[in-house]
Amino acid sequence: MNDKYALRLACEDDMDAVAKIVHRAWEPVLAHHKQNMGLDLFDATYSRWSQAAGNRMRSLFSRNPNCFSVVELCKSGELVAFVTYQIDHDGSMGTLGLNAVAPQFQGQGIASMMYQFVLDQFRQAGLKFARVRTGMNDTQTSARRAYEKAGFDIAQCEVRYYMTL
Ligand SMILES: CC(C)(COP(=O)(O)OP(=O)(O)OC[C@H]1O[C@@H](n2cnc3c(N)ncnc32)[C@H](O)[C@@H]1OP(=O)(O)O)[C@@H](O)C(=O)NCCC(=O)NCCS
Repeated sequence: MNDKYALRLACEDDMDAVAKIVHRAWEPVLAHHKQNMGLDLFDATYSRWSQAAGNRMRSLFSRNPNCFSVVELCKSGELVAFVTYQIDHDGSMGTLGLNAVAPQFQGQGIASMMYQFVLDQFRQAGLKFARVRTGMNDTQTSARRAYEKAGFDIAQCEVRYYMTL
């Protein structure tokens, strides 16, 4: 990517480090969900998501190892970010999936570089469209801004409702 950061395909041994990035990067998002939903609903919907991040990332990797990349520091090899994606040739659609940059490395253009890499993979695969999903709350402003910067310019907003029975 540049002389400081290198992007490479992920391997199974990276998954613990990836799970740590998931935990740290999603902390503010999950804190928002907890406050918004209340503890019971949050526990029912998100607590397992974060507790099982390692297994979830391993399973994501084993299903599609060629579409899972990580960014490491050139000097030390420390993992600082990851990105996953899917390619659907039938629908000519590329999906930018779960991705994150470790908090202390955010704001340095790492996500923008990862997204350009993924969009290039989509173009090289001959796809016509790309899509990505994120939330509308304040803790996801960074993701929305980074996606818009990468060129995502058609937004279709939806809302998810819950109720206590
Ligand atoms: C979203 C995320 C991956 C962005 O990573 P990043 O490396 O900091 O992003 P970049 O440095 O490439 O910044 C891209 C653009 O977003 C903007 N941006 C980044 N963080 C921002 C913030 N907190 N508020 C507003 N804009 C922000 C940058 O300023 C830049 O735009 P600009 O060049 O016009 O100024 C990172 O914030 C993250 O890991 N968030 C938590 C997990 C998440 O939401 N993942 C994506 C959804 S699956």
